[in-house]
Amino acid sequence: MGALIEIRNLVRQYVMGGQIIRALNGVNLEIQRGEFVAIMGPSGSGKSTCMNMIGCLDKPTSGSYVIDGNDVSQLTEDQLAELRNRKIGFVFQNFNLLPRTTALENVELPMMYAGVPARERRRRAVEALERVGLGERLHNRPNELSGGQQQRVSIARALVNRPALILADEPTGALDSQTTEDILKLFEELHQQGNTIVIVTHEDEVGQHAHRIVRFRDGKVESDLPTDRAREVEPV
Ligand SMILES: Nc1ncnc2c1ncn2[C@@H]1O[C@H](COP(=O)(O)OP(=O)(O)O)[C@@H](O)[C@H]1O
Ligand SMILES: [Mg+2]
Repeated sequence: MGALIEIRNLVRQYVMGGQIIRALNGVNLEIQRGEFVAIMGPSGSGKSTCMNMIGCLDKPTSGSYVIDGNDVSQLTEDQLAELRNRKIGFVFQNFNLLPRTTALENVELPMMYAGVPARERRRRAVEALERVGLGERLHNRPNELSGGQQQRVSIARALVNRPALILADEPTGALDSQTTEDILKLFEELHQQGNTIVIVTHEDEVGQHAHRIVRFRDGKVESDLPTDRAREVEPV
């Protein structure tokens, strides 16, 4: 089996006011199953564009992207939507929960799109919420939960279709420092349980929780290095 993610010579350009902007300018990146990777870099370096590519929300201008054996450039919009739903769990900075909907219902939503029967949906949503420590908050709506709890709901929602990849864009950007630590600890547990996790962050402390940091600059990978954490658990 190849890498989970294989990006080759990827270019994504935008045309704005007659000017060509190369948001990604020849990116090569492989991510194996079971890795915990942070994508970092200054503002405007291409992190979000790369995250949109990895998340199959966008297609390359040139070059290739293969996820779990699927060549993204060959897929229709419908096929892309299905691939996103089945293979990728998204976590966002602002949680993106439905406001008038309970934690349980928010977590059930991706399974509704995936056609999971009601009883099974309920069972798996409860299990996912228990896994993130919210077994006592199943029936609360987002405005009855703290920021950290809301992010836990969104992580439960990301997990519930058992995705090949959890993709998190600045997942601690809206949280205080203690809650940030708690959420990063949760990501570490999920990683230890075998999940593949990619987080985008501009904060060094956050990046250091991953096992590998891919740093972007000017639309290219500037460096790609293991963190101290990788050396702690994977002695050479
Ligand atoms: N939709 C777009 N249209 C035009 N230019 C864009 C668009 N999205 C991003 N860019 C440009 O591409 C470059 C990379 O942006 P982005 O991927 O958002 O960087 P980052 O997330 O690292 O801040 C920037 O110069 C940005 O202005
Ligand atoms: Mg960005």
